[in-house]
Amino acid sequence: MASSVRRIGVLTGGGDCPGLNAVIRAATKHALFHGMEVLGIEDGFLGLIENRVRPLGYEDVSNILTLGGTILGSSNKADPKKYPTGVDAKGQTVYSDMSETCLRHIEEHGIDALVVIGGDGTMTCAAPFIERGVRCVGVPKTIDNDLWGTDLTFGHLTAVEVATAALDRVHTTAASHHRAMVVEVMGRNAGWIALSAGIASGSDAILLPEIPFGTENVCEFVRARSTRGKRFSIICCAEGAHPRDRDKIVERVDPSSPDPIRLGGVAKWLAGEIERCTGIESRYVVLGHVQRGGTPTAADRVLSTLFGDAAMRLILEEKFNRLVAWRGGSLTDAPMLESAGRQRVVPHDHAMIQAARCIYTCFGD
Ligand code: F6P
Repeated sequence: MASSVRRIGVLTGGGDCPGLNAVIRAATKHALFHGMEVLGIEDGFLGLIENRVRPLGYEDVSNILTLGGTILGSSNKADPKKYPTGVDAKGQTVYSDMSETCLRHIEEHGIDALVVIGGDGTMTCAAPFIERGVRCVGVPKTIDNDLWGTDLTFGHLTAVEVATAALDRVHTTAASHHRAMVVEVMGRNAGWIALSAGIASGSDAILLPEIPFGTENVCEFVRARSTRGKRFSIICCAEGAHPRDRDKIVERVDPSSPDPIRLGGVAKWLAGEIERCTGIESRYVVLGHVQRGGTPTAADRVLSTLFGDAAMRLILEEKFNRLVAWRGGSLTDAPMLESAGRQRVVPHDHAMIQAARCIYTCFGD
């Protein structure tokens, strides 16, 4: 083995998604194959702060390929740079920089390289460690598929399958009852899930965060369909979609999270508007975390296995601080720090948008 790395640490950060265990499995088995030791860090960067680390052997990662979630646990709240450590006299949360603590734990455990599996928030958390000399490789995760530097993140294709299956089911009940149905899928800033699932399910309208919609346009579209004898309409709506004259609808603010905004509610609001404006009975469905849970599809199992394997190849080649990436239909890698805090949104001229427009799909613009 050419690499000087003897022991790797693996962590999964941010919101979970299908395929995390498949990546852990592939990276761990590949590392063991080369005689390395693997340490699993629990709950993402939180485990590094709290020193919760455990060895991963062959049996620990056996039979987890199809398992949803992550055997290591995850956290989308623990940024070592800004970690809540108490409350001051005014009741305000006090934050501390726990980077030194994490660095000490990395050193104590003899971790030579860190496999960081996560999205833009997790890559942002890794940045200070890269700058301090910790050797990292990143694996791009998120159902939203919005990570800069890769055309595809693992977990996304499964979320699209789940959303499509749900839209298909909504389709038949909407047709039976002559209703408009608004289905809210995940996607805060990027509408990749809504766009793909919307096209795959033959949704009549697709609303994306990238294209603010005119509420009157959507209502008119539903009314016109009804006039033509299409007495139902399916609207696939990203949670981050919003009307031109209104911001995204926030469901809750979680101050304990580095990214405190949780979106939700646009489908409920829009269904109400459609019913009010058109007189057509309208209902809504919020798919939520159903899109994040459960077993990965075959395509995601393959992609996750390729990604876990590619992370180990980068380590073996000592190509550190790179993000495993999928570009132009093949595996490659990109600078990890370039992905930190950056997002890949849907371009307005994307082929999927062009194709959808030409089959009369409404984007509300
Ligand atoms: O980024 C992935 C994602 O699933 C978003 O689509 C969604 O807005 C967010 O995470 C939900 O986060 P939480 O699990 O904290 O509610």
